[in-house]
Amino acid sequence: MTLSIPRLIGHRGAARHAPENTLSGMRTGALQGALWVEVDVKITRDGVPILMHDDKVDRTTNGHGLVADMDFTQVRALDAGSWFGPDFRGERVPTLAEAIEAARFLDINLNLEIKPCPGREEQTAGIALSMALNLWPADRPPPLVSSFSTEALAMARTVAPHWPRGYLMEEEPADWAAIADRLDAATINIDARRQSAGSIAAFRATGRPVLAYTVNDAQQARQLFQWGVAGVFTDTPEGLFKGLTGKG
Ligand code: G3P
Ligand code: MG
Repeated sequence: MTLSIPRLIGHRGAARHAPENTLSGMRTGALQGALWVEVDVKITRDGVPILMHDDKVDRTTNGHGLVADMDFTQVRALDAGSWFGPDFRGERVPTLAEAIEAARFLDINLNLEIKPCPGREEQTAGIALSMALNLWPADRPPPLVSSFSTEALAMARTVAPHWPRGYLMEEEPADWAAIADRLDAATINIDARRQSAGSIAAFRATGRPVLAYTVNDAQQARQLFQWGVAGVFTDTPEGLFKGLTGKG
């Protein structure tokens, strides 16, 4: 399967312009021209896949506590928009099912980053991807499934073997290439701040496209593209587009 990777991928939707990991965020990313948006997926205590980055709800909602200790109805009662700005008051934490439907409606693709609460790596990937497989429209290209958790990626391979996997890394382990092979990773997803021409060349030498997070500065993006990075995750798709092209 050939993977068509856009240059600019909305990070957590379009995190500079709308509350991250919400339907408004996805919509903002799409309106800003992002052909893909990246979202973070975890499960509630009762096993409902939702979009959220942190283990706790505190930073991105008006609630407190660990997602792993909360049932979906509790998470759903929270306001996930007011922390960002009054325009987003009443925004809810979306389910993965709602995010898939929204992506179809917006005509964009998704990068589903599996972001498990500690100890729930396999369970999160298993539940979220079984559901996503059932809901994914047959006429659309599959999402990219990524994770920092190799356990989650191994489970992704079992549950959705034909969906491409992105091996996300913060600090690369010495045996990263062997791990990427073992997971049959389609892409290498790396921290933009840690890279050089040499590191990108090494990743690309494995035959995999390289995606870099999180890039909001045009000069940095230009450098990464020059080194051969295929696409960057950005909080501001429109801002980066303007910076790169001088248009808008
Ligand atoms: O998937 C790219 C990027 O989102 C990884 O870092 O912490 O923003 O999920 P983080
Ligand atoms: Mg992420």
